Amino acid sequence: GSDPSQIYQPDGGKDKENFRNYTSGPLLDRVYTTYKLMHTHQTVDFVRKKHVEFGGFSFKKMTVMEAVDLLDGLVDESDPDVDFPNSFHAFQTAEGIRKAHPDKDWFHLVGLLHDLGKVLVMAGEPQWSVVGDTFPVGCRPQKSVVFWDSTFQDNPDIKDPRYCTEYGMYEPHCGLENVLMSWGHDEYMYQMMKFNKFSLPPEAFYMIRFHSFYPWHTGGDYRHLCSPHDLSMLPWVQEFNKFDLYTKSEDLPDVSELRPYYQSLIDKYCPGILRW
Ligand SMILES: [Fe+2]
Ligand SMILES: [Fe+2]
Repeated sequence: GSDPSQIYQPDGGKDKENFRNYTSGPLLDRVYTTYKLMHTHQTVDFVRKKHVEFGGFSFKKMTVMEAVDLLDGLVDESDPDVDFPNSFHAFQTAEGIRKAHPDKDWFHLVGLLHDLGKVLVMAGEPQWSVVGDTFPVGCRPQKSVVFWDSTFQDNPDIKDPRYCTEYGMYEPHCGLENVLMSWGHDEYMYQMMKFNKFSLPPEAFYMIRFHSFYPWHTGGDYRHLCSPHDLSMLPWVQEFNKFDLYTKSEDLPDVSELRPYYQSLIDKYCPGILRW
């Protein structure tokens, strides 16, 4: 694949190794606080409750573009690289994919859609239950989880014999579809797309469902839970991730110019008023 960091020069030429810095930087306190709350409160019981609470999709009725506009009001407090509204990030990601994969219009739309699950914040959910990297609950957290050594000590699952071993409540290589991930915008959006019958290929659903699972797609952990299907999908998730991460730039796009193209993709793959 092509390298979007060669296409974009984020922040006047920010280098790749300067993204996702969790040891220093102006936003670090805000980022750490969000992860501390997430790693304390995301438990098996909590995630199961959220699936029930939001699985009926009765929080709001709106179009995809209305959801993009809602993200004008959201700054992601887990993100050490971005301090501007998430709507710009949606278009930046989509445009990066469009330049590198001009023939795959459905992939462009994945860029626009991938973070729309963050509308959960508008439903009153705290950021630690919406944003940030995800990890499997129901088994011991692995070392590539951000801040893993200083943020889990107050999570009750860490002392629960059902959940505190390497496999916890899972069978070896059970497949990520059978793993309960920490609750957030990935899983919610995946379920929402299924519920509303988006006519996108399986790769699109998969990329959105696991795009924040950095400990897996970038950290290389959790292979003991993966099926062959997961490993066959991993290159798609990693290809998507390049654009999700390296197109982040304070150089904000002119969204009004881009809207008509993305509206045409919405009309093709996920038209009309949808249930969220
Ligand atoms: Fe995301
Ligand atoms: Fe994103």
